[in-house]
Amino acid sequence: MRIITTESYQEMSLEATKIVAGQVYLKPTSVLGLATGSTPEGLYDNLVAVHRTIGLDFSEVTTFNLDEYIGMAPENPQSYHYFMHKHFFDLVNVRPENIFIPDGCAEDVPAACKAYDKLIREKGGIDLQVLGIGRNAHIGFNEPDVKFEATTHKVKLDDETIQANARFFEDEEAVPRYAISMGIKTIMLARHVILLASGPEKAEAVKKAVCGSVSPAAPASILQLHQDVTVIVDREAASMLPEEYQHGAHEIF
Ligand code: F6R
Repeated sequence: MRIITTESYQEMSLEATKIVAGQVYLKPTSVLGLATGSTPEGLYDNLVAVHRTIGLDFSEVTTFNLDEYIGMAPENPQSYHYFMHKHFFDLVNVRPENIFIPDGCAEDVPAACKAYDKLIREKGGIDLQVLGIGRNAHIGFNEPDVKFEATTHKVKLDDETIQANARFFEDEEAVPRYAISMGIKTIMLARHVILLASGPEKAEAVKKAVCGSVSPAAPASILQLHQDVTVIVDREAASMLPEEYQHGAHEIF
């Protein structure tokens, strides 16, 4: 695990952009695992800018998103389908047939989850997985007390996650209670993972992810056992880490 602590959200996004853009340049047929939420918005803005200014080509890239709310139609503005098209897919040249997002309206959810993992395998596995982190240290929608061996599955959202995500809805009541999420095993099978975090409300989760004990109580802590993880945080999100990790880039282990 290596950690890059930046001075700002913009700098965090820039560091992540270098990694994702580098991945796509070096391997135009890359399979990317993508996250939604506020954290990667700057990354997507930058990738769109790199596509427009110097022609970063996404035409051979395949993408798999981490999660989608159950019962949420793709055209619903609160869906993760909608988010991804608005912030990224509609602004670059990823081919529609290469875009995969869990189907929140699937009639047979377990079958849809199984098919999703199968498709990831058939496409050669995820080369680079982008993650955000929840205040409760969730990754994807793998909430505390998750089973580390789970692949893509139906999850019940934690009260804390429902409260945090209420900002995107009219009120807390409107936040879906269930989602389909890649499981920890699916995430751990990615060849390279980048975890992004910004702001003081993520500081405790980042501390658990980077230097807490590896435990299902803090799902992101499993990343300590991944062979190639880069954690990119701003200073506020790094504020509860040991002093030496609060600036610059470090190889932790
Ligand atoms: C999103 C996802 C979640 C978010 C996390 C942080 O696809 O899987 O794990 O990354 O909830 O969300 P933000 O970035 O909105 O703070």
